[in-house]
Amino acid sequence: MANNITFTMIKPDAVKNNYIGGILAMINEAGFKIKAMKYTQLTKADAEGFYEVHKERPFFGELVNFMSSGPIVAAILEKDNAVADFRKLIGATNPAEAEEGTIRKKYATSLGENAVHGSDSDENAAIEANFHFAMTERF
Ligand code: CMP
Repeated sequence: MANNITFTMIKPDAVKNNYIGGILAMINEAGFKIKAMKYTQLTKADAEGFYEVHKERPFFGELVNFMSSGPIVAAILEKDNAVADFRKLIGATNPAEAEEGTIRKKYATSLGENAVHGSDSDENAAIEANFHFAMTERF
């Protein structure tokens, strides 16, 4: 059975460009409930830990530097079929390939600076949510 939570971050590029409000509006309009949320900045060690699955990739250093370069908004979102529906809402990883009406089509600038993160599986949604939020921070 599909889980009903996913994890997202509004990334440093979108925060810097003042897109927090626009992105949250799209998330709410698509029917996601905000279960947990914080405005924070990742340290390099945080970003290395969060993206550990990508540590052998050539872009890992760039990814860690970018994700720790400024504040982010981290959130747990709740909805039926949350992981798949949220990935549909954010669009392709590369904004050049993202469909009209998706968050990345509207707000992302490049493959590396792609405005938002969305978990790719129920298992990773749980791991990523636990990385950022205690149970007492979820409502
Ligand atoms: P996300 O899906 O949030 O998590 C992994 C991130 O790595 C991905 O978003 C992209 O921002 C980034 N990424 C993926 N491929 C590349 C690449 N070829 N060069 C730079 N960054 C990348």
